[in-house]
Amino acid sequence: MLVPIGWDREAGAVRIIDQTLLPCELRYVHITSMNQMCEAIARLKVRGAPAIGVAGAFGAYLGMKERASSATSCDGDFVVALSEVCDTVASVRPTAVNLAWAVARVRRAAERVMSVTSDTAAAIDAMLTEALSIMEEDRRSCELIGINGASLIPDGARVLTHCNAGALATAGMGTALAPIYVRHSQGAKVKVWADETRPLLQGARLTAFELSQAGIDVTVICDGMAASLMAAGEVDLVIVGADRVAANGDVCNKIGTYGLACAAWVHGIPLYVACPTSTIDLSLASGDQIPIEQRSSDEVAIGFGCRTVPEGVAVYNPAFDVTPARMVAAIITERGVARPPFQQGIASIAGA
Ligand code: MRU
Repeated sequence: MLVPIGWDREAGAVRIIDQTLLPCELRYVHITSMNQMCEAIARLKVRGAPAIGVAGAFGAYLGMKERASSATSCDGDFVVALSEVCDTVASVRPTAVNLAWAVARVRRAAERVMSVTSDTAAAIDAMLTEALSIMEEDRRSCELIGINGASLIPDGARVLTHCNAGALATAGMGTALAPIYVRHSQGAKVKVWADETRPLLQGARLTAFELSQAGIDVTVICDGMAASLMAAGEVDLVIVGADRVAANGDVCNKIGTYGLACAAWVHGIPLYVACPTSTIDLSLASGDQIPIEQRSSDEVAIGFGCRTVPEGVAVYNPAFDVTPARMVAAIITERGVARPPFQQGIASIAGA
């Protein structure tokens, strides 16, 4: 299994796969500062909701390590630095709640230590310990999502997925792809249609890369081909990940997911969402409150170095969209599978 993010204890650095280079090159790079981590998250070197949560946790730790070299006690300056570092890292990408959630966790870990000692090293160590826990919990969540979702994938199923919600997007075997990996390991035959996922091609570059490496039958299609494949009876189910799920079950995921959901809805094909409970945001009543990241027009107009939109023409590039809960057949988490109506099921799965 590919490991897109890990902690290199000897180097005192975070090791990531630079996903912007895939599928041409599998290159691991070391991240040793907060700024490097923020840049890696912003440029999608590390991406996918759970993975950017883990990255953010390490990024906040690295930021405090840098800032604390001049501080010997957890005084007012240290408190201000903690707040600045955490706010900086948490705001690099706004949509996936895992980022802010994980940064808040490492911040609370530091604050717990600061309430009993003024030893800055102890507070910063607690941040690293918490980041490592978040990473390990995510690895385990992916396994459980795989097990909980496996029964939804019949032997011989033809599964359509969008973007990349696999190993490359998490600290484990992925979310949407985890049940597929589990069924494959059980000897079931699964065929995957991978939407290429404009504009950054996470489906073509990443999902196809990791599934083909794992020996799973995968075929890439352009995003616009999904509906006609469904009409032709070539898709049994759709499974996607999520960047944020609201309390009512509305699902925010990579742009294009909503279109896919509409097509699946028309054709009576179930759309499943797989995510850890860290992706569920009970503070938001519905999906229309989820902030949608707007990204550079260059990603659409000059993607991968080739101009495909005339210079001067306007481009609209939201990175995510929201699929209404009524179009979702089930939400698969590490704590179980929620079915409609979601309000109740989500609250009991994701509540404290
Ligand atoms: O912009 P990205 O590549 O970070 O978007 C990723 C997605 O939309 C994934 O589907 C989502 O984060 C779930 S990953 C397990």
